[in-house]
Parts: sequence; structure tokens; C-alpha cells
Amino acid sequence: MKLADTGLTAQDIKDKVNKYMIETYERFDFLAETAKDQYIYDEKGEKYLDFYAGIAVNSAGSCNEKVVEAVVNQAKTLMHTFNYPYTIPQALLAEKVCTTIGMDKIYFQNTGTEANEAMIKMARKYGIEKYGPNRYHIVTAKMGFHGRTFGSMSATGQPGNGCQVGFGPMTYGFSYAPYNDLKAFKDACTENTIAIMVEPVQGEGGVHPATQEFMQGLREFCDENGMLLLLDEVQTGWCRTGKVMSYMNYGIKPDIVSMAKALGGGMPIGAICATEEVSRAFSAGSHGTTFGGHPVSCAAALAEIDELMDRNLADNAAKMGAYFMEKLKTLPHVKEVRGQGLLIGVEFDDTVSSVDVKHECLHRHLLLTAIGDHIIRMVPPLIIDEKDCDEAYEIIKASVEALS
Ligand SMILES: Cc1ncc(COP(=O)(O)O)c(C=O)c1O
Repeated sequence: MKLADTGLTAQDIKDKVNKYMIETYERFDFLAETAKDQYIYDEKGEKYLDFYAGIAVNSAGSCNEKVVEAVVNQAKTLMHTFNYPYTIPQALLAEKVCTTIGMDKIYFQNTGTEANEAMIKMARKYGIEKYGPNRYHIVTAKMGFHGRTFGSMSATGQPGNGCQVGFGPMTYGFSYAPYNDLKAFKDACTENTIAIMVEPVQGEGGVHPATQEFMQGLREFCDENGMLLLLDEVQTGWCRTGKVMSYMNYGIKPDIVSMAKALGGGMPIGAICATEEVSRAFSAGSHGTTFGGHPVSCAAALAEIDELMDRNLADNAAKMGAYFMEKLKTLPHVKEVRGQGLLIGVEFDDTVSSVDVKHECLHRHLLLTAIGDHIIRMVPPLIIDEKDCDEAYEIIKASVEALS
């Protein structure tokens, strides 16, 4: 939809949102009318360099031509039919995902939090059926983030933050240990623990990559104790971190991995992949979804994965991530630059507010997000080049200088 076709002004649109929508978002004060590749355009045609990419979604670029074509073709052919008949896009996508990331089986959902719900349910059912009714406990990381539905929210080890406050009580059966602290994770496990669940890079928690020792240690500890390693790759999955999946950076494999965001190239889709043995915990009737594995989203995902793989965008993420992070270290007031591939966080000292930096950058037509008081996060499309990184760097630098 274009504004000109509606006979309305940009202000009319903002007024309608403010009047009718239940607002849980702090909106950027501009109207996103169109988008292409690494840019979003407002109703005046003004260009914004998009370094949040729909929060790590538009990895092969916004409105990628091949993804758009796949969506249009599938929408004209078969829009929706529930999960009773076999469908072509599901079959092709299931094979493509499993063979690309080396997992046995896939279960489709719609979003990241739903994928994590399925992952938690599958792990519990596996534990209870294999070991008995008390084997349901899951250890997750403090400052992790797994989503906003009850299982995922309860797995999110940030009891004090906006995600859980006011929604208690949380779902029973989780405990939390400090991220990257292998001993603390081992100590938090009991005879009732069936799984450890972590993000390979904590995104919402401030962009903290797992250490090799931590990831390898968790894998070995789970193997030694008949426990499952559950990885939440909703944000890190599909080439963002320099490998197809972040776990490939560590030379390990999970028992179940969740994914969403970039998988659909802008269409909503989530999924879990599991080993053959663990996947058997789900059988006919034990889980289900009306829209999960939607034909249009599956067709989009097939095209997106082809784009990511054919254009070697994991390699580009690794290359551009290294280049950009080196530059970012030279920003004024920087305390630390952290990241993996093109999932990047910049932590400033106490004198610089991340929300102020975000607004200054918006004013200069760069889009990024703020985490906490002093961290900015960038998850640009994986198609960016050095020129885009240079432009973003200059805008952030000018923004921080304007605030000093
Ligand atoms: C690591 C992680 N898990 C889960 C989620 C939830 O995904 P969704 O918003 O699609 O439910 C997010 C979203 O930011 C995420 O970053």
C-alpha cells in the first residue's frame, strides 16, 4: 500500500495508530512506506540505511526479488490448507533445511517464541517418557531471551525486566545460571534436569557471544548426563553469525535447535529441528498449529535460503562483521564492541545513552536499536558492503559527538 493511494497524510496514519492500536512499541517517528535491500524509504521517498533489518529478518535484503516472486506465485497457487494434506513447499523446505544444517527432522511453527515453545515441549516430553515424570527441569541462562509466550517467557532468565514483570507467576520448571559460566550451569542441574537451553549469542541480553569452552562444555556435560542441548537460534540462525547456524562456529551440534526471523526472508515462519531420536517425542496429536508451515511462508523460506547460500552471505556476514567491528572500536566513548558476524553490539561508557544515540542516528537516517542504557545493537541485512559500514560508522560517530 502506498500513502498516495489512500488519500491520507503521514500524520493521519500516525494518528490512527495512536488512536486504535494497543501500543507496546516505542515507535520511530517516521513512516516506513517502501523498502528495498538495505534501505527503507518514507512517504517523501527519503532513504534510511536499515541496520536493524526488521530485527535480524531481512537478511537477503528487503523485498528480495526472488522471495517476492515466490510469495506471489505461491499465493496464487495455494494460500492455505492446514496440515492435513501434503503440500509441496513444506516438503521441499523440510528437505532443504534438514540437509543444509545437518539435522534429521523439522517441525514448522510461525514465530520464534512458538518455535521455543515447541522445543521446550519436545524436551519435556522426551524426558518424561524416557526417564519418568520428574525429568522435566530445564536450565537456561540469566539475561537470556527466548520470547514472550509463557513457556519462552519463563525460560527467559531476566526476572526483573519488562518481559516478565506484571505477568506472574511464570511456568514452573526452569532455573537460571550465569551465561558463559560452565560450572554454574553444571551446579544448576539436578537429577530432574532434562535439558540446557541457551542462545549461542545472547542478543537481547546485550550481544554476548558464547565462548568455545562454554558451548563445548555444555555439549559434553549434556552427553555425559543423558540431557539435551537446546539451542535458540531464532536470531543467530541462517548465516547471520558467519556460518549457516551459529553452532557451526563451535563445531558442535544441538539435540534441538529453534529458528525463525531470517528463515522466511520477511514472511513469518518458525521451526525446530531435532535429532531423529528426540523428534519421536512428538507424535500425531501431541502438538499442532493452524498456520505453522504455511505454504506462502515455506515458499518464501525456500527462496530466501537459496539467496543466502548462492550468494555466500554467511561469508559476507563474517567479512563485513570483522571489518565493521574493527571500525566501531574507534568510536568516541566506546567501552566494548562485541558480536559474531553481523550481530553486533557497541557498549558505550556511562556518559552516552544508547536511546539518545538511536534517536540521533534516526535523525541522520540510520536505523538501529538500543539495548539497556548504554548498548546499541545492529543486525543489518547480510548483503551490505564496506561502503555501507563506513556510512553507518560516520553517522554513529557524528551522533555520539553531537551528544558529547
Ligand atoms: C533469541 C530469540 N529467541 C526468541 C525470540 C522471539 O521471537 P519472536 O519475536 O519471533 O517470537 C527472539 C526475538 O527477538 C530472539 O531474539
